[in-house]
Amino acid sequence: MSSFELRDLLSLEEELWRMLGSDVAPGHRRALASRIIGSPEFDKLRSFWREPSRVTLDPGVGPTASTDEGFVRVAYAGLLCRPPDENGLRHYVSTLASGGTRGGVLRSLVLSEEFERRFSVLPQDTQLCELANPAKWDNAEWLDILRSLGLADDKLSMHRKPYEFAQLIYGCRALGVLRDDASIVSVGAGHEPVLYWLANHVHRVIATDIYEGVWRDVQSREGDPDVLRTPEAFAPFPYRRDRLTFLRMDGRHLAFRDGSFDIAYSLSSIEHFGGLPGAMATVREMARVLRPGGVLVLGTEYVLEGPRHEETFLPEEIAQLANQPGLELVQPIDETVYRRYSYTPVDLYQSPYLTPHMVVRFNDTVFTTVMLFLRRL
Ligand SMILES: C[S@@+](CC[C@H](N)C(=O)[O-])C[C@H]1O[C@@H](n2cnc3c(N)ncnc32)[C@H](O)[C@@H]1O
Repeated sequence: MSSFELRDLLSLEEELWRMLGSDVAPGHRRALASRIIGSPEFDKLRSFWREPSRVTLDPGVGPTASTDEGFVRVAYAGLLCRPPDENGLRHYVSTLASGGTRGGVLRSLVLSEEFERRFSVLPQDTQLCELANPAKWDNAEWLDILRSLGLADDKLSMHRKPYEFAQLIYGCRALGVLRDDASIVSVGAGHEPVLYWLANHVHRVIATDIYEGVWRDVQSREGDPDVLRTPEAFAPFPYRRDRLTFLRMDGRHLAFRDGSFDIAYSLSSIEHFGGLPGAMATVREMARVLRPGGVLVLGTEYVLEGPRHEETFLPEEIAQLANQPGLELVQPIDETVYRRYSYTPVDLYQSPYLTPHMVVRFNDTVFTTVMLFLRRL
């Protein structure tokens, strides 16, 4: 854990102490504590607390939290949503009287089975086929995947690129195809970090890309052909080198036998393969190299508003891409995400690196990522 994260955790912990023991009006105190307790950051704090070597801050839990008994009552109400039972009250009050800390009491309650049960029933967004969805930043399992990729998990850093990587893994796991013995092909792969993550989790990963033309130099040089010679130079973390191979190949003509892979995916690429005809040809090829029951994952550009732009697809074109022989969407696409969120599109010409970066625009064309999961029939 980096020192930045540690500092964050400590201040969150301190804040919780302060709120539970402060003079904030009870209704507000409860609401504030609830928000913290239900947050993914608090989930992270809990894992941290489970480490036996954990040294905690105990700043005295609010000089205003009158008596030890008053404190235990507030802690029970805030964390377990109920008054303390007689035994619990007696136990914690005597722990405090014999020198135990208030921080220790809070930690015990948070690590209790009762708290675990309460926390584990929090509803989480589990949709797979959808527009890049901010709700995923409230899904603890999904956030764990994001972190395991070494990517920032805070909401201000929200970005559709990390979303695509985490959603790919989350979806393949949910569909049962991300297994130790799985074979995966990525199309228009560049040197995307998720390749290295997959190499650490499955049997074989083949990254394919043309590695030529404009992509050698533009944006983050995704099409840099150096990755063919020195893949390790692009690795964001140590990886199993024997599991990952980079090949120069056009996505519209994959040089693999039918039924070779469990997963075929392509992220932020097919919109650059020659419009809808190029994208359709690529999806057909990806379907061909999948075994029956295998999963095809596509992340591409979906126009929310305005005219079509050459490297984006209108909703009806996305429907055509998804509706191909031998493939079936695993669920209907949730295309309504941005009807329930307010957003300001990031202007890709003026501030391409601005975050949050979920909805973007080229002039009047406002678009986002759509993720599709299709089963090979
Ligand atoms: C925006 S980049 C995305 C790279 C990578 N998937 C990622 O998410 O970082 C688009 C990639 O598509 C590749 N590409 C363009 N046309 C292609 C084609 N016909 N076949 C395979 N790859 C192609 C480019 O070389 C480039 O690496």
